[in-house]
Amino acid sequence: MGDKVGRFITLEGGDGSGKSSQAKALGDFLESMGKEVVLTREPGGSPGADEIRKLILTGDPERWDGLEETLLFYTARVNHLRLTVKPALARGAWVISDRFADSTMAYQGYGNQLGVETVRKIHDVAVGTFEPDLTFILDLDVETGLARTEGRGHDEDRFERMKLAFHERMRQGFLEIARQNPDRCQVVDASQSIDDIQMELRSYLKGRFFS
Ligand code: TYD
Repeated sequence: MGDKVGRFITLEGGDGSGKSSQAKALGDFLESMGKEVVLTREPGGSPGADEIRKLILTGDPERWDGLEETLLFYTARVNHLRLTVKPALARGAWVISDRFADSTMAYQGYGNQLGVETVRKIHDVAVGTFEPDLTFILDLDVETGLARTEGRGHDEDRFERMKLAFHERMRQGFLEIARQNPDRCQVVDASQSIDDIQMELRSYLKGRFFS
């Protein structure tokens, strides 16, 4: 039945949760199942969105406030959907995106405290009812995740504590999103080894789409 229809799979989670290596390995798996795979990421994934990525992720940390940042993420997202994701799905490819809309809800909505309602309204206007077929949320203890990205933690200065609080809100945000979308979201324990996580993702995918 589903052979000609593409699927949209997103990987979400905090910094250091290992999403990008999992996305690549999942792509290899789907290709071995004979699927065309498009690996992509946000912010980015189309030429315009990649330019916006640079605007968001470089420069003075104060140059965008939470709302401005969210609008930029969504401008990039709409462009990415229009030029990359939707055309690939239409020709039957499986699209795997390293981050998508749940990241904005978790980072800007919960982490930056812009608020769930504001992000939801922007989402509804920009994206509407389109959503991933499946979202893996790689859940990891915040300190472990930060230590993985930074090499070592410096938990004692104020900035780091603010960072921890931000990341903790963001983690809880992802878990709340998973609770509210149980059919779409699968939470995965990202403290496991890379291979064990990949085995879990593949076995979930097999059960969901190939059985
Ligand atoms: P990136 O270098 O891609 O980080 P990662 O490997 O952790 O995905 O940078 C993306 C950063 O942008 C990351 O810290 C998460 C953040 N982000 C948001 O805050 N909101 C969003 O909507 C998206 C897509 C990403």
